[in-house]
Amino acid sequence: MEIVLSGIRPTGNLHLGNYYGAVTSFLKLQEEYNCYFFIADWHSLTTHPTPENIQNSARTILAEYLACGLDPEKATIYIQSDVPETIELYLYLNMSAYLGELERVTSFKEKARKQPDNVNAGLLTYPTLMAADILIHRAHKVPVGKDQEQNMEMARKFSRRFNQMYNTDLFPEPQSFSMSSEGGIKIPGLDGSGKMGKSEGNCIYLCDEPSVIRKKVMKAVTDAGPQTPNSPKPEVIANLFTLMRVVSSNDTVEYFEGKWNDCTLRYGDMKKQLAEDIITATNPIRERLVEYNSQPDLLDRVARIGAEKARESASATLSLVRKTIGFRNY
Ligand code: TYM
Repeated sequence: MEIVLSGIRPTGNLHLGNYYGAVTSFLKLQEEYNCYFFIADWHSLTTHPTPENIQNSARTILAEYLACGLDPEKATIYIQSDVPETIELYLYLNMSAYLGELERVTSFKEKARKQPDNVNAGLLTYPTLMAADILIHRAHKVPVGKDQEQNMEMARKFSRRFNQMYNTDLFPEPQSFSMSSEGGIKIPGLDGSGKMGKSEGNCIYLCDEPSVIRKKVMKAVTDAGPQTPNSPKPEVIANLFTLMRVVSSNDTVEYFEGKWNDCTLRYGDMKKQLAEDIITATNPIRERLVEYNSQPDLLDRVARIGAEKARESASATLSLVRKTIGFRNY
């Protein structure tokens, strides 16, 4: 059976980008496939969180996963740092990952520009750790948003390289997966910048109260309004429509498209509708979140059971890897 794996860095709460980029695709797949969903807490170390940050954020995000509908009966839900086998594979993959190709990764270059005082080796080798996450379960499908495409290309490259180097077909070539027909999805920010992201500070979080969501959406950047019929939309307006296409019904989107095309669109009306549709989409998650947050024992149990299942799969892969490379198993 094909294996599916996805993960999220626990650097804050889940936002609409995480939800529509990765979680919703995963929810469908967990019904049919052998699925792993994990919390990438080692990845978050590149920005040096405190021990309290690490503990709290893993638990926060676990509760949010469950509130979104990830089902520990169907999928293996675990915390990356509970599966040390990943690190050993990370080491092996690093031995055939080259400085030049790692330095060329766009997200590395961006991070190096944004945090010039902390260009650590973990940032550089972020793609090899991500590849290790995927390959440790020999995953075939990886639900991710568009922003992860370059990391996914690296994971495919490392998988092929290992197979060629040792003349084996141990690792499948992991494919990005998206439910959207156009491939990887990118949820835009409402501040006119590219994507919704934690470090961009432009997120609508799943846990945001309705009043907060309304306020954020009403503040979305717009322009003077449509000037000529059927004109192409500038990026800030296209962004509003992109979000609307994700959370609203087709009828609603068509209605506002029509208003844009005949130059009668009032952004205030569109934003009000968009805010209400985001609230409707996220309300059930918020309600369930309150329940899960009040059950820390349940969260601990889910993480413990997830870790056991994940380690079983990871250690099976690792013993094959060790044998392939020429090491004894311990
Ligand atoms: P992270 O934590 O930045 O984001 C988690 C997931 O959410 C998606 N995403 C988005 N999708 C669409 N539009 C957006 N605005 C948006 N923002 C975030 C991301 O594409 C991602 O799917 N490197 C990963 C975490 C990771 C991982 C892995 C993922 C580590 N190992 C192995 C898959 C497999 C990351 O930083 O995602």
